[in-house]
Amino acid sequence: MKLPKFKSQAFFAPMAGISDPAFRTLCAEMGAGLVVTELTSINAIVAKEKILKKDGKKISEFIEFSEKERPISIQLFGSDIKLLSKSAQIVEPYFDIIDYNMGCPAPHITNQMAGAALLQKPDLTKKIFTTLINAVDKPITLKMRTGVNNSDCYLWKPVAKIAEDCGISMITLHPRTIKQGYSGKADWNMIKELRSVVNEQVKVVGNGDITKPEDAKKMIEQTGCNYIMIGRGAMGNPQIFSQINSEMRSERWSETTFEEKKKTLHKYLELTKKYPTIKFASIRTQAMQFTKGIKGGKELRNKIARAQTMQEIKEKFK
Ligand SMILES: Cc1cc2nc3c(=O)[nH]c(=O)nc-3n(C[C@H](O)[C@H](O)[C@H](O)COP(=O)(O)O)c2cc1C
Repeated sequence: MKLPKFKSQAFFAPMAGISDPAFRTLCAEMGAGLVVTELTSINAIVAKEKILKKDGKKISEFIEFSEKERPISIQLFGSDIKLLSKSAQIVEPYFDIIDYNMGCPAPHITNQMAGAALLQKPDLTKKIFTTLINAVDKPITLKMRTGVNNSDCYLWKPVAKIAEDCGISMITLHPRTIKQGYSGKADWNMIKELRSVVNEQVKVVGNGDITKPEDAKKMIEQTGCNYIMIGRGAMGNPQIFSQINSEMRSERWSETTFEEKKKTLHKYLELTKKYPTIKFASIRTQAMQFTKGIKGGKELRNKIARAQTMQEIKEKFK
């Protein structure tokens, strides 16, 4: 299935608690080519839809988003085949892409045979991809880690071939194993290998350890990947997308100033008011991210950690 047109090669990663609709909107406005929701349970989608339907409401009240984010992808997790098909059909009308999670290393996900645990189950994986492709007309993409331990860090390779055979449109690789968590360095050579393993129709997204615009350019040059995805480097720093876009065009860009950070945080706080599903604790965590790299950031972070209202956050960040 054809992917939508992306305005930029730099995508915003799915991040639980971070990739909320307000923050995704900021990333899209600042030049992210694609934004992805945080991982969403297929069980929860099916259960919620039933409840919402009774009240004449739609699933978009559970998974909030805005038109300003397009193109937008929804990331699903879970391996119950019936629920997979049903959940994909429920979300299909609202999203441009459906992404499947085979990267989450968290035990509460891997223990239910979901996330990165599926890298060990090629037969089930094939069934999952086929089910998704047959269930909907929107493009299906995959995001994965490399393996479980160091000894099986090439589990991604057969999975990539299965994905290609089944008709997956795009694969994002975060080249770390489950065991690695976020330690060590992402092995960008594996992204290069992935690019050579699957045919050109399957787009490859490189992910892992892009923290500054120069890294983005370097990853594309070193690996030949089609797109790049930024997670932690964008936390409290959506400006990274406009900076990367400038870097790609070999244009000058400048570091984000304190004033710009403040303005962006205030805009984020305003945007969150539109989305009842965003909890105050998450908003506060996001606000703390905006203090990274600024003078006196640690003290400011401590102050924000104690804030009890959005107004208090605003007053402290000035
Ligand atoms: C707080 C946090 C939450 C995350 N949640 C998700 C998620 O919901 N789905 C997913 O595929 N990856 C998730 N990830 C992984 C990121 O999408 C990304 O693959 C990883 O952080 C490596 O990229 P980076 O070095 O640019 O951060 C999460 C990462 C972090 C730090």
